[in-house]
Amino acid sequence: MKRALKVVGVVALLLVVAGGGLFGWASLTVSASLGRTLTAHEVDIPVPFPLSEAELSALRQERLAERAAAGEPSPDATGAEADVLAGVDLDALALERAIERGRHLVGARYACGECHGREDFSGGVMVDDPAMGSLLGPNLTPAGPTRDFDVSDWDHIVRHGILPDGRPAMMPSEDFVRMSDRELSDIIAFLRAQPPVENEVAASRLGPVGTLLAAFGKLPLSADLLTDHQAAHIVEPPATEPTAEFGRHLVAICTGCHRANLEGGPIAAGPPDWLPAANLTPHADGLAGWTFEDFDAALRRGVRPDGSALRPPMTIVQPYAQAMTETERRALWAYLETVAPQPQGE
Ligand code: HEC
Ligand code: HEC
Repeated sequence: MKRALKVVGVVALLLVVAGGGLFGWASLTVSASLGRTLTAHEVDIPVPFPLSEAELSALRQERLAERAAAGEPSPDATGAEADVLAGVDLDALALERAIERGRHLVGARYACGECHGREDFSGGVMVDDPAMGSLLGPNLTPAGPTRDFDVSDWDHIVRHGILPDGRPAMMPSEDFVRMSDRELSDIIAFLRAQPPVENEVAASRLGPVGTLLAAFGKLPLSADLLTDHQAAHIVEPPATEPTAEFGRHLVAICTGCHRANLEGGPIAAGPPDWLPAANLTPHADGLAGWTFEDFDAALRRGVRPDGSALRPPMTIVQPYAQAMTETERRALWAYLETVAPQPQGE
């Protein structure tokens, strides 16, 4: 009996030592990984983008129409074009339009506030769990760390998952790699225009389970998923039309949960109590037989064709879907109709 107890005691001790050793190894592995310095290309992107030729010519038409309505003589077609816009602050107008586009991008497509603060972008929560860790979205208003960012710093964190000092970030930037320069520029213009809010957000850290998962490669860092940090980005997004091409661009907000091929299944990055994501491919396990109207009702009102309600975490998406334009929702549907049917993801 005594001997048996002794054996049990020794085994328990060994387990504690091995477990402690494993955890020690995991902590070291993860801090080494998070302490690395990575390099990405430098970018040169105007903030805001200047008004396009199409916007300038629309403005000229407007001015000419105003003049005609006021009974002013119309300038002759030669050389007088520039004059029509004299006195219009084109830079201020470009900035105003960029901020409005940025507001839409953040509110309908890229959901930055979901982790950085829904109300005022002054800081928020991605995960806060004693086991997984606390991954907090820093303050994105001009009172936070971005006050000193240049456009390359913005590019690195948003499209490469790399912090300004070169360390890999715990932000899931793989959802944003296909963001165009114009969209990034618009988002920067919008965030820079937010009222500064003083709010210090604590540094993100992994808990014990998060550390083990990360050490075993189950929580890959965006900076590692993206192998080429020198590749050029697209400058302009696809044309805003209800096409599969534009829909493929928009689907980035969905693939983090529904997976790149949209087969659905357990959500790797989510907490264990999240339901598996639905299959969004045209397969019997997925959306085969759905119409655009069915899809639209699910997205904006959270109801399926049989009247049942969609459950969390899909409900997170509803306000963003409501902020999308009809063209954006039709484009998403056009893209979903073209993807290869897949059985439900495991
Ligand atoms: C799913 C949650 C999530 C979303 C969505 C998200 N972020 Fe983040 N972001 C984080 C987390 C977590 C960190 C902290 C990363 C770290 O410290 O390793 C972070 C860090 C940052 C930083 C770095 C601030 C600093 O301290 O240097 C910036 C800038 C940033 N995010 C901008 C954005 C923008 C812009 C968007 C939208 C295009 C966005 N984020 C979307 C979670 C998110
Ligand atoms: C935060 C994770 C998450 C994101 C982001 C997300 N979804 Fe979902 N989605 C889910 C989950 C989980 C379900 C299953 C809900 C349920 O079973 O009630 C679901 C269900 C759905 C359904 C219902 C399908 C069915 O057969 O019942 C549709 C349609 C859908 N999502 C579309 C989208 C689209 C389009 C996007 C991007 C704009 C998106 N989702 C983004 C998690 C997400």
